[in-house]
Amino acid sequence: MERTMDLCRELFVKLRKNELHDGDKVFLEGWVRGNRDNGSVGFIEFNDGTCFKNVQLVYTNETTGYEAISHFKYAASISVKGSIKLTPENKQPFEILVEEAAVLGDVSDDYPLQKKRHSFEFLRDIAYLRPRANTFNALYRVRNKLAFAIHLFFQERGFMYVHTPIITGNDAEGAGQCFKVVEDLKNPTEFFNANSCLTVSGQLHVEPFALAFRDTYTFGPTFRAEHSNTSRHASEFWMIEPEIAFADLEDDMNLMEEFLKFIINYVLTNCPDEMNFFNTMIEKGVIDKMNAILNSSFKRMTYTEAIEILDKAAKNGKKFEYNNIFWGMDLQSEHERYITEEVVKGPVFLINYPKEIKSFYMKLNSDNKTVAACDLLVPGVGEICGGSQREDNYDLLKTRMDEQGNTEILEWYLNLRKYGGCIHSGFGLGFDRLLMYLTGLSNIRDVQPYPRTPGSLKY
Ligand code: 4AD
Ligand code: MG
Repeated sequence: MERTMDLCRELFVKLRKNELHDGDKVFLEGWVRGNRDNGSVGFIEFNDGTCFKNVQLVYTNETTGYEAISHFKYAASISVKGSIKLTPENKQPFEILVEEAAVLGDVSDDYPLQKKRHSFEFLRDIAYLRPRANTFNALYRVRNKLAFAIHLFFQERGFMYVHTPIITGNDAEGAGQCFKVVEDLKNPTEFFNANSCLTVSGQLHVEPFALAFRDTYTFGPTFRAEHSNTSRHASEFWMIEPEIAFADLEDDMNLMEEFLKFIINYVLTNCPDEMNFFNTMIEKGVIDKMNAILNSSFKRMTYTEAIEILDKAAKNGKKFEYNNIFWGMDLQSEHERYITEEVVKGPVFLINYPKEIKSFYMKLNSDNKTVAACDLLVPGVGEICGGSQREDNYDLLKTRMDEQGNTEILEWYLNLRKYGGCIHSGFGLGFDRLLMYLTGLSNIRDVQPYPRTPGSLKY
């Protein structure tokens, strides 16, 4: 099939360049997003998928087939021949005067979507139709641009993109949240070995590349068998994990800040229509919030300081669900949010966590109690990003790994410390959590095309 039709996206580009003129002929194929008429004139909100904005089609009782066109149904796919009419004084800068239109694919009466707002829960259940709903149309466009911006940032700076494996033999985080890989569901035998599982993080596999290429990153799907049924946890999510050699925690945090600002700025600049939509329909002020991030420098606070602040707040009557605050505790989301939303009122790096609550590969600080780790906390989400300087001392790492019981399976990882090792650091940014933050959508199930969460695998 030769695709000779025009695209709405290109019409908007021509308009911007003053290359769209009254009377220009167009041929479009797309979908009806609304159709109303008063007997002598009718309007179709039309979208061909190539841009977020709809285009208005106008038909009058002089248009051939007025009656049939006035019955074009919501969501039908149609073809249209017509001509451009510039309307600079109207909300839509141009419309298309229909000369001929035909239905390509009609819509049966059981079509579940209507031209009204549906609840997110309802839409989740029809994930295969969600891309047509405005919110999700905008979201998937932003998701696409954001993924591109991530590669752009790293590629412009000479980082090497590494494809780390999805099937692996180790639980990188050591938190016991791996999905097992078995060969045959009816007779579950291990295809590889007793430990084969889906990756929880590409970090351990990207570190050897950092020790050869210096600046590297991996960006791919990761899997966690966490039974936490929250709005921020998914069983499958994408993670961006840069790993940089000859770099300490400070360098790591600087990279995180520069990276985050770059991709936020990229989305604000390249998805203005979508971001305006989120700003009016989902979270009022989200654009200002993002601009504030761009213009702020991220605060740093030690874990110990955070505990002191939380303890004081609890003693002064602040009600946390987990109200027993003590040094050594793992911070709950409510604590993280209190720090970022009410104390700092912006993004903050929490650093130097007790070693007991962090992963085995993190660099032990000279106090022998804390590790050179950082979590980036942001308002509305809490932890969005976690990183650390990696333990580069062979003996210290071996001790931690012996405690963890993974020395044997990760011998190669330990060896890196005696084969020309160096100070190196990295972080992991949850792509889906970042999207929640950028769009104001408050449930991770609403930022993924096909969310996987405990008990939910419909598509
Ligand atoms: O803090 P995490 O577990 O860190 C790591 O996996 C390190 N290996 C990263 C590194 O240093 N290379 O996960 C990193 C980020 C979190 O900050 C969070 O944004 C996201 O991944 N994340 C999740 N997102 C959605 N659903 C889940 N279940 C998530 N678990 C973590
Ligand atoms: Mg973390």
